[in-house]
Amino acid sequence: MAGIIATQTQQPWEIDMLRLAQDWLREAGEFALAQRQSLNTEYKEDHSPVTNVDKGVESMLVKHISQSYPDHQILSEEGSNQNNNGDILWAIDPIDGTRGYISGLPAWGISAGILKQGKAYAGCFFMPAIGEMYWGIDNKGFFNEQPILPSKNANPDNPMAFIAVPSNAHTHYEISFRRLRSLGSTSAHLAYVARGVAMAAVTRPLYIWDIAATLPLFRAAEVGLVYLSGKHFNPQELLDGSRSKEPLLAAPLEIIELVRKMIKPK
Ligand code: IPD
Ligand code: CA
Ligand code: CA
Repeated sequence: MAGIIATQTQQPWEIDMLRLAQDWLREAGEFALAQRQSLNTEYKEDHSPVTNVDKGVESMLVKHISQSYPDHQILSEEGSNQNNNGDILWAIDPIDGTRGYISGLPAWGISAGILKQGKAYAGCFFMPAIGEMYWGIDNKGFFNEQPILPSKNANPDNPMAFIAVPSNAHTHYEISFRRLRSLGSTSAHLAYVARGVAMAAVTRPLYIWDIAATLPLFRAAEVGLVYLSGKHFNPQELLDGSRSKEPLLAAPLEIIELVRKMIKPK
């Protein structure tokens, strides 16, 4: 695995775990792409869709994790949880962006965040339709094999700059920035902020599995996270599987407060 040098905090078995996680996400991604023509869709209580493929990907990942690491805990969106006593917790979103996946759009992905002793430590987010793998450990992050560095796009005057927003942003906020994009996957939006493609991302209220995989990338990219009210974000508050009480804003640290002031609730 290019770019990773084991340090005192990264044990060799942890590097192996991250390599395995990427293999598992690629395998699950092939399955999800192959199954796209034969989907069964149901709707959950919150009216969001879930397919046989969301459940199939979750089963594949849970099987791999529990066979390789029987003492690890798993918290997964579709409910296949494992409560063990180990220090490591996997936060899994089998498909983030299910609506886009069903519609045949490209921006959806499979997310595996790895928390150690309750702290977001490592993770991978793979977008099978476009072959993009985002992965990180501790304070290092990579887009495929390319290191993620502090953002060069942190200037709101940059003509390429955009804020990634949920599809209902126009009904909730006045956003005084000239360019918004809504691609259909919160995890992709967050990965694009880490990569410096999006200047910032506003989320809906979210779950730990929507964000855990991107937190190491944010450390690498010097991207901050704050609730839209300005309140500090603590991922540990979501470890019981609850949804955050507020939307979040992700942006490079030096502009996050400037961007937050551009977003006013309606
Ligand atoms: C969805 C995506 C989407 C967000 C929805 C989420 P899911 O995740 O992240 O971007 O707007 O609120 O539910 O349900 O496809 O895992
Ligand atoms: Ca999902
Ligand atoms: Ca999700």
